[in-house]
Amino acid sequence: MDRLALYPGTFDPVTYGHLDVLERALKVFDTIEVTVAVNASKKTLFSTEDRVGLVQASVEGIEGHDRVRVTAFEGLLVDHARATGAVALVRGLRQVSDFDYEFRMALANRRLFPDLQTVFLMPAEDHTFVAASIVREIHRWGGDVSSFVPPVVADALADRRTD
Ligand code: PNS
Repeated sequence: MDRLALYPGTFDPVTYGHLDVLERALKVFDTIEVTVAVNASKKTLFSTEDRVGLVQASVEGIEGHDRVRVTAFEGLLVDHARATGAVALVRGLRQVSDFDYEFRMALANRRLFPDLQTVFLMPAEDHTFVAASIVREIHRWGGDVSSFVPPVVADALADRRTD
């Protein structure tokens, strides 16, 4: 049986930390759907289409990318999981400060869809502090983001500067 896991997130933008978690998830599941939350109420730097496109372009370089698909979802994640037949949600857990939010979300999702498992994967130590919000902050003040994000994302951020 093909075991599909969803890897949901805002991905604004995708970072090396996300890709590290994705590579680990590919070792556990057959297919991973990276699914980008549309989240109309959250102001994002990149549009949904851009976030999906940047994930797609970034994934091309990783081993097992043929087992990855990239989508966008709107509404409840559990509804998307039901619609796709996913058996699990993958979330990256970087540090203790992530835990509170992740714990509440995992339990809420479990209440809504008891058969769906949330699986937490830890990125490599050098990615433990890498967050899209930090990347946006560094970019905002003109800093070098090249060690945090793939070149395609760094280019998209640079283009933003000239918008
Ligand atoms: O990358 P993020 O911002 O931490 O991802 C959070 C995300 C998009 C996975 C979460 O906000 C989400 O699943 N949103 C959709 C609405 C939903 O189902 N929420 C979970 C129940 S509390």
